[in-house]
Amino acid sequence: MKIINIVGARPNFIKIAPIMRQMRKSSIIEPILLHTGQHYDIEMSKRFFQELNIPSPDISLEVGSDSHAKQVARIMERFDDVCDSQKPDGILVVGDVNSTMACSLVAAKKGIKIIHIEAGIRSFDREMPEEINRMVTDAITDLLLPPSRDAVDNLLKEGHPASKIHLVGNIMIDTLMDSQAQIMKSEILRQLGIEDRNYALVTLHRPSNVDNISDFKRILLALSKIQERLPIVFPVHPRTRKILDDPELKAITGNMPRLVLCDPLGYFDFGRLVSGCRMVITDSGGIQEESTVYGIPCITIRENTERPITLWEGTNELAGTDTAKIIIFANQILDGKWKTGKIPELWDGHTAERIIRCIEKEL
Ligand code: UD1
Ligand code: UDP
Repeated sequence: MKIINIVGARPNFIKIAPIMRQMRKSSIIEPILLHTGQHYDIEMSKRFFQELNIPSPDISLEVGSDSHAKQVARIMERFDDVCDSQKPDGILVVGDVNSTMACSLVAAKKGIKIIHIEAGIRSFDREMPEEINRMVTDAITDLLLPPSRDAVDNLLKEGHPASKIHLVGNIMIDTLMDSQAQIMKSEILRQLGIEDRNYALVTLHRPSNVDNISDFKRILLALSKIQERLPIVFPVHPRTRKILDDPELKAITGNMPRLVLCDPLGYFDFGRLVSGCRMVITDSGGIQEESTVYGIPCITIRENTERPITLWEGTNELAGTDTAKIIIFANQILDGKWKTGKIPELWDGHTAERIIRCIEKEL
């Protein structure tokens, strides 16, 4: 069974590492790895292949950045040719990025089976580009492999037959658990001059937060207040880099002596920062999940989340972009008034094994 595994953006690499490892042990699956090139900076792409021992891609589409329509169209054109030459039995897609949806559309029209890891998660917010990617991908997927029961329920409510849905757990947590030894060896705290349990970790990259000055300013004003009580480390995503150069925003960050800005970090260094911080302040999907597993308080800078289990069972709360609310939440954490949470069902480090068993049996 020849399966093309699709990756394109940072979180995809972290999800594919354990899947590739398990697939290579299978006697009936022949895995091919395809990188669309949606992310291409060394620190957003190649570094994860090296750290996580992901084999070099067999196929690279090198599409680069563009508007969503143009990026999706370029991936589709190039992947169409790949499918004709490779003739795969199936493709495996992860998450909700443009590469996920674009390759799924090509496969569906060619009658190639689609496996979707992280199926069924929904923010119910169609202004998020990822929500469109999730809905379209799941609508045409043959094997829906959700990370949690709420995602299973969403798929059933949308009318997908139960026979196509298999709860496998959270694949990101496989990598987190596999990497504990390297994460704990990281020297990043010393390199950044910060102390264990005595800093906040910030990441922001959602277009709704970082693509316009007024939204981003509300968030920065909150961070400016928080850093009076706690140093802040902020590895900056490439989308966010540009806006930080705006003079109005520079005037705010210039007055934040305890803000440490840095380039995006490798998986082990970043994992060390999540595991050792006092709180995470983020709009990332994956980091909401990772902080829940580490039991670290997480303030999510969004009005909604497609990972509600991190609110119900984990350490996550939604603050939106309300400056006062973000500050109140941060103070509650610093004053020891935050929920503790537990690790959700099947976020146990064995999701890749369940995925491979399921593919071998069902596809
Ligand atoms: C994408 C995903 C998002 C995911 C995120 C993970 C979509 C619609 N969005 O968002 O769901 O959470 O990746 O990080 O698929 N850029 C670089 N170097 C790179 C990559 C991007 O400089 O290696 C810059 C370019 O200016 C580009 C911008 O970042 O235009 C945005 O990149 P893009 O992949 O379109 O979206 P992300 O915001 O990264
Ligand atoms: N991550 C990383 N270095 C960083 C920021 C994030 O290795 O500087 C990891 C993080 O641990 C998580 C993943 O990248 O595993 C999340 O990716 P991102 O926030 O880009 O995307 P999302 O999950 O929001 O789609």
